[in-house]
Amino acid sequence: MRPVIIAGNWKLNGTIPETEVLIKGLLDGDSNNEAATVVVCPPYPSLSYAHQMVTGTHIALGAQDMSQHDKGAYTGEVSAEMLLTVGVRYVILGHSERRQHHAETDQLVNAKAKAALAAGLIPIICVGETLTEREAERTEEVVGGQLDGALAGLMTDQLRLSVLAYEPVWAIGTGKTATPEMAQAVHRFLRNRLAQNDPAAAEVVPILYGGSVKPGNAHELLSQPDIDGALVGGASLKAEDFVGIINAV
Ligand code: PGA
Repeated sequence: MRPVIIAGNWKLNGTIPETEVLIKGLLDGDSNNEAATVVVCPPYPSLSYAHQMVTGTHIALGAQDMSQHDKGAYTGEVSAEMLLTVGVRYVILGHSERRQHHAETDQLVNAKAKAALAAGLIPIICVGETLTEREAERTEEVVGGQLDGALAGLMTDQLRLSVLAYEPVWAIGTGKTATPEMAQAVHRFLRNRLAQNDPAAAEVVPILYGGSVKPGNAHELLSQPDIDGALVGGASLKAEDFVGIINAV
């Protein structure tokens, strides 16, 4: 019922020559699994080139962030419309690295989500707790608050078009993965929280897991009832590994 999405977050990697090699690797590799929606999220300068490469293929394009503004005096920013014109369909919002290094708040993530949806982009909204928060048994409080903040004021039809990603901060780029049971428990919590606002949204909104997903752990994670895909960082930079994750679906 819910689409299974495997999204690669390239972060600050992927010059145009690197983009060419990586996407060619995905197209040449066995990455066309009908059970999965495959999304790659290169950095802004490589999007247009990536779009040329993926047009007419099974691979969709995503961006890693965007501005909440449409236009104006916002040096360094990129709008939803600009992303649409280079073929972008998804946009990652509220990644923990944006929250940590760029002081992004739930309010800002909410404004970006509204701007993305108004423009016709699908937001992939990230939530996740730090190790300190998990050890203090505050995981549900933290991710629940992030979820409520990011989704505040969305119309039901917008909410139902959105994608969520649970990314425990302590598992990102560390090689530490949440166990499937730990991840499933948080995914279930998030789905129940969605259901409090809109039971239909809880049924249709995919919740991706992110944090050191690799070919070797993808199948077990993706087998959990409330894990509907993966947001993949490091392993999305090697075509063979990303293909391995896609084929774990
Ligand atoms: P990772 O990153 O797979 O390298 O842990 C995931 C992410 O930050 O989206």
